Amino acid sequence: MQCSWKAVLLLALASVAIQYTAIRTFTAKSLRACPGLAEAGLAGRLCEEGPTAAYNLSRRTHVLILATTRSGSSFVGQLLNQHLDVFYLFEPLYHVQNALIPRFTQSRSPSDRRVMLGASRDLLRSLYDCDLHFLENYIKPPPVNHTTDRVFRRGASRGLCSRPVCDAPGPADLALEEGDCVRKCGLLNLTVAAAACRDRSHVAIKTVRVPEVSDLRALVEDPRLNLKVIQLVRDPRGILASRSETFRDTYRLWRLWHGTGRRPYNLDATQLTTVCEDFANSVSTGLTRPPWLKGKYMLVRYEDLARSPMKKTEEIYGFLGIPLDRHVVRWIQNNTRADPAAGKHKYGTVRNSAAMAEKWRFRLSYDMVAFAQSACQRVLAQLGYRAAASEAELRDPSVSLVEERDFRPFS
Ligand SMILES: *[C@@H]1O[C@H](CO)[C@@H](O)[C@H](O)[C@H]1NC(C)=O
Ligand SMILES: *[C@@H]1O[C@H](CO)[C@@H](O)[C@H](O)[C@H]1NC(C)=O
Ligand SMILES: *[C@@H]1O[C@H](CO)[C@@H](O)[C@H](O)[C@H]1NC(C)=O
Ligand SMILES: *[C@@H]1O[C@H](CO)[C@@H](O)[C@H](O)[C@H]1NC(C)=O
Repeated sequence: MQCSWKAVLLLALASVAIQYTAIRTFTAKSLRACPGLAEAGLAGRLCEEGPTAAYNLSRRTHVLILATTRSGSSFVGQLLNQHLDVFYLFEPLYHVQNALIPRFTQSRSPSDRRVMLGASRDLLRSLYDCDLHFLENYIKPPPVNHTTDRVFRRGASRGLCSRPVCDAPGPADLALEEGDCVRKCGLLNLTVAAAACRDRSHVAIKTVRVPEVSDLRALVEDPRLNLKVIQLVRDPRGILASRSETFRDTYRLWRLWHGTGRRPYNLDATQLTTVCEDFANSVSTGLTRPPWLKGKYMLVRYEDLARSPMKKTEEIYGFLGIPLDRHVVRWIQNNTRADPAAGKHKYGTVRNSAAMAEKWRFRLSYDMVAFAQSACQRVLAQLGYRAAASEAELRDPSVSLVEERDFRPFS
C-alpha cells in the first residue's frame, strides 16, 4: 500500500474542491446576484439588501489586520475593537478553514491554498458589507433560524458583546469581557449582528489565515471596497519563542531542542521558515510601492507598537483616516502598563508590552536563535531586526536587536 497516502490526499483535495463549489452554488441560488457587480469582475458577490447597499460601501473604511499567530495580532485587534465606530471581527476566516480543510491546518499545498483564498476573499467581501449571513455557510453545525453559539471567539468582538446583539441584563452601555460575553449573551442572532454592523461606520477584520498581501490584491483593487491593510510583523525569533510556549504540542520538538541542547533530527523547520517567507514576500511587495497598494498598506512592527503604543496607534489611525476615540486611548492606558500579575491568559493582551516583546531573548537557546537567524536572514534584514552575534549579546538587555526604521505608508 505504498501510494495509499497519495490516494487519500487526492481524495481529500477533490472533496475540498467539491465542497467549495457546492457552497458557492448553494449561496448563488439562495440569494439573488447583485446587479452591476458582474461588470466589475465581482460576479461571485451576492446581494441581499438591494443594489444601492454596495455603492454606499465607499464611504466606509474596511480594515484588514494581516498577521500571523503570536505576532501581537490580538493587541492590534483591540486597538480597533475598542473604537465605538468600528465593527470588529476576530478571525472569521477560521470558519472557512474549519469547513474546507479541517485536517490540513498546516497545509501549504497550492491547491488547498487556492481553495482557501478564494473562499476567504468571498467571505471578507461579504463581511465588509455586513452580510454576516454569508458566514452561515461555513459554521458547523449550521445555524438554526440564523442563530448560533458557534461563532469562533465571539467574545473577542465588542460589537457582538454589547447591545443590541447581546441582551444580557445590565446597563445600556454594556460591554462584556470575552468569557462573560459567551456565558451571558445567549445565542448569537446573526440578523441582529448584521444590523449592528451596519450601524457602525467602519468594519475591521483580523486574520492570521492569509499568507501575504498580494493574496488580497483582488480586494484591494475592488472599487466597492475601501480596503486598508495593516500588516503586522514581529521578529520571527520572538514568534518562535511565543509559539513554542503557546502551542506546546505542535512545537514539541523545538521545546525538546531547548531542553536537551540538541536539535532533533526530525525538527520541522518550516514551522519557522514559513513565517519568514510569508513576511519576506509581503514586505517585498510593500517596499516596491506598487500603485495598487498606494495609500492602502501600512507595515507595523509589533516591537514599535510595544515600545510606543500611543504614538504608533495615532499613526495607524492617521493611516486609516479615522479619528481616534477616547475608548481606544483609555484601553491603551489601561493595558500597556507593567502589571505582571495580569499577563496570564494565553491570548491576553494585558501586559507590560515592551518587556513582553523582548522576552524571547531569554526563552530560546543561543543555538536556536542562531538557527533562526540563518534561516530567516533575508527578512530579518528587511525588517531591521539585528542578529545577535553571541549568547552574551543575546541576553544583554542593553543591546537593542531592533533597529530604528521608519515604515511609513506611501501615498
Ligand atoms: C446611501 O445611503 C444613503 C443613506 O445613508 C441613501 O440615502 C442613499 O440613497 C444610498 N445610496 C447612494 C448611492 O448614495
Ligand atoms: C425555527 O423557526 C421556526 C419558525 O419560526 C420554528 O418553528 C422552529 O421551532 C425554530 N427552530 C428552532 C430550533 O428554534
Ligand atoms: C433574530 O432577530 C430578528 C430581528 O430582530 C428576529 O426577527 C428573529 O426572530 C430573531 N431570530 C430568532 C431565532 O430569535
Ligand atoms: C482597566 O482595567 C480594569 C481591569 O481589567 C477594569 O476593571 C477597568 O474598568 C479598566 N478601566 C478602564 C478605564 O478601562
